[in-house]
Amino acid sequence: MTRYQHLASLLAERIEQGLYQSGERLPSVRLLSQEHGVSISTVQQAYHLLEEQQMIQPQPRSGYFVAPGKTAPPVPPLTRPVQRPVEITQWDSVLELLSNRHNGEMVQLGSGIPDVTPSTIKPLWREMVRLGHLQDPMLLSYDALNGVSLLREQIARLSVDSGCRLDAADIVVTTGCHEALSVAIRAVCQYGDIVAVESPAFHGTMQTLRGLGIRVIEIPTDSVTGVSLEALELAFEQWPIKAVIVVPNCNNPLGFIMPDTRKKALILLAQRFDIAIIEDDVYGELAFDYPRPVTLKSFDEDGRVLLCSSFSKTLAPGLRVGWVAPGRYFDRVLHTKYISTGSTAVQTQIAVGEFARQGHYRPHLRRVRRQYQHNLGIVTGWVRKYFPESICVSRPQGGFMMWIELPEMFDAVRLNRRLLEENVQIAAGSLFSAAGKYRNCLRLNYASLGQCNEQAIRKLGIAVGREMDA
Ligand SMILES: Cc1ncc(COP(=O)(O)O)c(C=O)c1O
Repeated sequence: MTRYQHLASLLAERIEQGLYQSGERLPSVRLLSQEHGVSISTVQQAYHLLEEQQMIQPQPRSGYFVAPGKTAPPVPPLTRPVQRPVEITQWDSVLELLSNRHNGEMVQLGSGIPDVTPSTIKPLWREMVRLGHLQDPMLLSYDALNGVSLLREQIARLSVDSGCRLDAADIVVTTGCHEALSVAIRAVCQYGDIVAVESPAFHGTMQTLRGLGIRVIEIPTDSVTGVSLEALELAFEQWPIKAVIVVPNCNNPLGFIMPDTRKKALILLAQRFDIAIIEDDVYGELAFDYPRPVTLKSFDEDGRVLLCSSFSKTLAPGLRVGWVAPGRYFDRVLHTKYISTGSTAVQTQIAVGEFARQGHYRPHLRRVRRQYQHNLGIVTGWVRKYFPESICVSRPQGGFMMWIELPEMFDAVRLNRRLLEENVQIAAGSLFSAAGKYRNCLRLNYASLGQCNEQAIRKLGIAVGREMDA
């Protein structure tokens, strides 16, 4: 986070806590610069950012004031899913979401797609063209079952940033994180088993569980600190749970980063009940703060964590390059990978491996992290401006997804159907619950302001208001 972003978030926090009231004058630029030991232009940039977020307003020759009535909406409270194993539903709705992904007319506010247009991605295109020109038969052949070694070496190096000490030999390359999750689940579970998941949780994971005949128990989850360890412990005591699946860093859809103390406590809990942990870190490198948060895997002492990730959210989903570090389940994962898709396509593995080897990946991450944090500020401002007051909004700490909770009786599934007629798609909250809860919630993708623009949020806000009045 840059200095001005840091100062802006500090001021935003004070406004949210009510230390500066609606309509109150904020400290002068000079005073703030002295107080925080930063330059005048840093303070001015911080104020501009807050102005973009519509938290404050400038008044000519008088300074900056807290925007009237603009204290931030509260964050969604701890969720309350059904506390017993359930069959997974929602496939029809997931299919509907996926089938609109290629409709160019549609404003895609519901997708999980990152911005794939930043200039920092150009070296990847160049690498793909270079590989095409080589016409090397090896590129059209099978490579190692566990993946191209160049790529695995780069993944191992990058894993240091997340507190892990992985070796290239610890990693199995997969076709996206989706396959990583699927082989991890199949390595530790069987038909009829029960798995614990955060609630809400990524629909792809739940549909994989459904396909394998596994039931889930949805665990209450806090939008700031993550899965409730107390509820998880109760569930472990009550049910023969085989594994717990979590997205502790820049969670999809809630955006939280689980504090390190809770990550450690989760590891201890899993050790105590001898349960495998499937950790999905697909958004971890998109945390707004630097350095990036550590993984559960970094606290794993006995190899029970199967760490899954991919380059889909940080670079591009169409590459289909993911990976799993399966710990003590390595052999089972490798066999499952073999019977799943054999080896993974070679060219994109080499292209991504070269991109990282040549030092392009970290600058790209810095670029997109800044972009997503900037977009979040702007889109939060529009949501405050155009949505009714009675909402809760998540405070993502990374990634590009925002979760909005509307009053209990609200129906986001119906809203989505109406919006589709106007070529706008959102993700209704019920997609993220095995039992179809959270119909009163929705998830917004703010990766690109080309899609998630003011007009779209205005349209959405008006439609939400109409639905609430109906
Ligand atoms: C939390 C989470 N895990 C896994 C995936 C799947 O990633 P991939 O596209 O690499 O298969 C997604 C995609 O939306 C996701 O949001």
